[in-house]
Amino acid sequence: MAESMNGLHRSHRCTEVSSQDIGETVTVMGWVQKRRNLGALIFIDLRDRSGILQVVFDENSVGKEGFEKAGTLRSEYVIAVTGKVQQRAAAVNENLKTGDIEVIAEQIRILSEAETPPFPIEENSQTKDEVRLKYRYLDLRRPDIQKNLMLRSKVIYLMREFMMKEGFLEIETPILCKSTPEGARDYLVPSRVHPGNFYALPQSPQLYKQLLMCSGYDRYFQIAKCFRDEDLRADRQPEFTQADMELSFVDIDDVLDVNERLLKYIFKEAIGVDVQIPLQRMPWQEAMDRFGSDKPDTRFGMELHDVSEVVKGCGFGVFTGALEQGGSVRGINAKGQGSMPRKKIDKLVEFAKGYGAKGLAYLSINEDGTYKSSFAKFMTEDELKALVDALDGEAGDLLLFAADKNKIVWNVLGALRLEIAKELDLLDPNQYNFLWVTEFPLLEWSDEENRYMAMHHPFTMPMEEDWENVDTDPGSVRAKAYDIVLNGTELGGGSVRIHQDDIQEKMFEVLGFTKESAHEQFGFLLDAFKYGVPPHAGLAYGVDRMVMHMVHADSIRDVIAFPKVKDASCLMTEAPGKVDEKQLEELQLKIEEE
Ligand code: AMO
Ligand code: AMP
Repeated sequence: MAESMNGLHRSHRCTEVSSQDIGETVTVMGWVQKRRNLGALIFIDLRDRSGILQVVFDENSVGKEGFEKAGTLRSEYVIAVTGKVQQRAAAVNENLKTGDIEVIAEQIRILSEAETPPFPIEENSQTKDEVRLKYRYLDLRRPDIQKNLMLRSKVIYLMREFMMKEGFLEIETPILCKSTPEGARDYLVPSRVHPGNFYALPQSPQLYKQLLMCSGYDRYFQIAKCFRDEDLRADRQPEFTQADMELSFVDIDDVLDVNERLLKYIFKEAIGVDVQIPLQRMPWQEAMDRFGSDKPDTRFGMELHDVSEVVKGCGFGVFTGALEQGGSVRGINAKGQGSMPRKKIDKLVEFAKGYGAKGLAYLSINEDGTYKSSFAKFMTEDELKALVDALDGEAGDLLLFAADKNKIVWNVLGALRLEIAKELDLLDPNQYNFLWVTEFPLLEWSDEENRYMAMHHPFTMPMEEDWENVDTDPGSVRAKAYDIVLNGTELGGGSVRIHQDDIQEKMFEVLGFTKESAHEQFGFLLDAFKYGVPPHAGLAYGVDRMVMHMVHADSIRDVIAFPKVKDASCLMTEAPGKVDEKQLEELQLKIEEE
């Protein structure tokens, strides 16, 4: 029978009890991790979110009834124990924070019994993800997940603390918003009062925070839930949390400065990592040319080399063909991998094809200076030597080349570089390489839409020195946009915003909006700006991603209490689900049966 609290008070969490309390009476409460019967003694490992404490039941201390009760305890029963702290009678357990003490029980209450859980509640569970997520409330009892969520709580606390000290105001913005079709797909909420009309859940508080600047709040901050209906990956969930900010009367340097100090503070306080600031800054073009990625992992080299000039006019049609099409030929040097077996190289070729490559040309340099290669036969000795020199190739190296449109070449070699680094174990999880990627292109051509799209969003300020080229060469205009990258992940991003009518209007024109359609969608923002708007800029972090890196998790699911799976469903609540006919009627919605 489950007993109640009835005036009983917890005095300590399990691991708050220490050898300093020896001789004291304490009351602890938690879950039974395991029970061992040793004749006249029963041992319990008691668990709460702080950790584990050993409790000993001896009939002489706890009485006959208490001892019998202890004998019925099973894993995951919830109990309260009052007793005296004593030195451990048996050997000290070095693995436990409380390994040198135990509590000798004087009273026990069973607060709740428990069925046998579908999987053991322990660290490093081997249980399948589907089972863990179906019983997420049990999975959340596991110490490693509890540690992750406790750290997440601390990170959010540290962010708030820092931002308050820096003069930011935390202001909440709506969850029921207007749909603005730029960006990812919206989650929609039908309106009952306005049948046929829909709210959209916010993809970010972007427009609201800009309006707050217009309203004079100066420095805004929010831990904001955001919603995006996009394909899920290890670092993407349909709902996620941003640490979102906006500042008035600033330019890029001001935003980067406050954020560098923020990062330094939270990484030190949360996980004891010293971040050296100022952080490295790298223009987007350089990031693409050197790493094939706008979020380069700079923990290792293996940089890309453009060999287009070197192979121009060579006899290998794959290379010259790509150049004729306006593309490029680039390569990476996998140092010391020259003896990689053919089978493994074939795997890399397949990997490259997965990223859009038509093929992958390779050349390994034998110890005697001869080559093993898929294309050497098409080139002269001199051409080959020039190619090898361009990549600083030495005996024992493996050189890999892709030839295609720039975008594909970057994508392929950027991914290949990471894949090889993973295989060679070059990625040290305890090294935190931050960098800013800056000077992003303002616009990106979309074949699908047959128009330019904003690379960040339509409110991002172009770089003054490029703006005059917007009509003649829109693709060449750079933006005052920046991303903060950590070990190959985009941790956050932001930009200086447009606050001048004429630039904003031109921007909408370039994006293919008519005056009317721009007004229909963003009229409130454009109107607001007519009444006096300060220059402003901001940034948002993905909090889930940041915590994921801090705890070395493979997925943001491990740092979110109730995450969704790949098809955006929740295995525990089975959301999304069908709704009552009555609810649909109220919304004047009909489901078309297939
Ligand atoms: P952006 O779209 O770059 O910028 O988002 C900011 C950061 O949010 C995180 N993030 C995600 N995390 C988990 N799951 C997702 N689906 C997901 N999508 C994004 C990333 C990303 O860097 N309003 C702008 C910010 C600004 O300009 O101030 C914005 O939302 O870590
Ligand atoms: P092929 O002449 O098609 O047999 O190709 C010769 C070599 O070039 C093979 O190793 C192919 O994998 C490689 N290759 C083919 N297309 C490309 C490309 N676009 N970029 C780099 N290598 C390629």
